[in-house]
Amino acid sequence: MFMWSLFICLHEVALYILSFFGSMTLRLFLFFLSEMRLPNGALSTSKSKFDDKIESSSAKMYFHYYGQLLHQQNMLQDYVRTGTYYAAVIENRADFAGRVVVDVGAGSGILSLFAAQAGAKHVYAVEASEMTEYARKLIEGNPSLGQRITVIKGKVEEVQLPEKADIMISEPMGTLLVNERMLESYVIARDRFLVPNGKMFPTIGRIHMAPFSDEYLFVEIANKALFWQQENYYGVDLTPLHGQAFQGYFSQPVVDAFDPRLLVAPAMHHVIDFTQVKEEDLFEIDIPLKFVASVGTRVHGLACWFDVLFNGSTVQRWLTTAPGAPTTHWYQLRCVLSQPLYVMAGQEITGHLHMIAHSAQSYTIYLTLSTKMWGPGAEQGGVFQSSACKVDLKEPYYRMSQPQPYPLVQDQQPHQLIQPQDINIQSDILQSEDLEDRELLRQQTLS
Ligand SMILES: *[C@@H]1O[C@H](CO)[C@@H](O)[C@H](O)[C@H]1NC(C)=O
Repeated sequence: MFMWSLFICLHEVALYILSFFGSMTLRLFLFFLSEMRLPNGALSTSKSKFDDKIESSSAKMYFHYYGQLLHQQNMLQDYVRTGTYYAAVIENRADFAGRVVVDVGAGSGILSLFAAQAGAKHVYAVEASEMTEYARKLIEGNPSLGQRITVIKGKVEEVQLPEKADIMISEPMGTLLVNERMLESYVIARDRFLVPNGKMFPTIGRIHMAPFSDEYLFVEIANKALFWQQENYYGVDLTPLHGQAFQGYFSQPVVDAFDPRLLVAPAMHHVIDFTQVKEEDLFEIDIPLKFVASVGTRVHGLACWFDVLFNGSTVQRWLTTAPGAPTTHWYQLRCVLSQPLYVMAGQEITGHLHMIAHSAQSYTIYLTLSTKMWGPGAEQGGVFQSSACKVDLKEPYYRMSQPQPYPLVQDQQPHQLIQPQDINIQSDILQSEDLEDRELLRQQTLS
């Protein structure tokens, strides 16, 4: 008891000094302390790697969100997501049969149940939210699989497992792959729980990027700020705030499913190898960009999406969120420039996509795109055009109410059932439902 209170006391002092000096030695000392175990074998509840970098208010909302069944249902009903995971596991039985598996951020426990179906010897399902209660129920209700699954409540940064795992399974991807900063937990879990050269499902992730041209989207965003151009709003001149309102709308990344014909150059990609990447590598990601425009047009920004590979020893399977492919609950993401660029076919577009992690489990994104103009003056070094924007990945604009050129597969059936005259009659009802849908989508697409 005394030792414990002394430990707490030392720990508080260390924290206090750390907040003053932030010295590396103390950080190591603190790390040593937070890894210390209580006599009963439980980890101390002191600050963990997770708590050090994530605001508690953000974490609280995050785990509350994933603790709710409706959000789990939303992810389970993304059949591209769930179906691809199922296929990747079942087609690679050899990687699971007789193996110890850890499911990182298990949620409802569905991936643990798939692993058990594929013959896993034992699955440890680690989940930090209150969803563990439902996961236990689901697993108990499937006893032939459930007897080989143990649900462990806690963060992968903090919990202990009784044995090392041969293979890890997880769904750590957020919008633009990196949103939610769960990839960091995935690699921390790798270093803590996986045997050397153990398998990871998914194995690698790729962020794909291409410039796009979308006059409608650009005008839509620019027009949102028109409100602030009123000089007589109940006798008040609103124009002093127009500039900031305009910039504000362009600082939101747009999340929707767009027509791939809007892309104006072949995409490039950036690989994140989950088996090799270090946690710190994910704090700041700087991707140099270089494209060659296929057409002459106005470039309105950069379109991004991702895919992940399940590098099974029998079958390699990709889960893609590309435009034109069946739509997932991740959709695609676009950063829109308030100052479009003019390009000609064959012209080079260069730039940077610079992403810096922040403590609200997301990233600030700095995008720069530049072109060197052809034509008169080109010989003297050319006319340089450059446009930049700063967007917060945490504050996306979900643009789902817009007409989608590519109908969502899941949506086709209900739409066919609605007669055109019904739509007219119910237009105001639809509108209010639409608002609800958008709010729901806004919440859902956290994942
Ligand atoms: C996939 O796994 C094989 C070995 O099983 C390895 O040689 C290959 O490099 C892996 N590919 C990727 C992309 O990780």
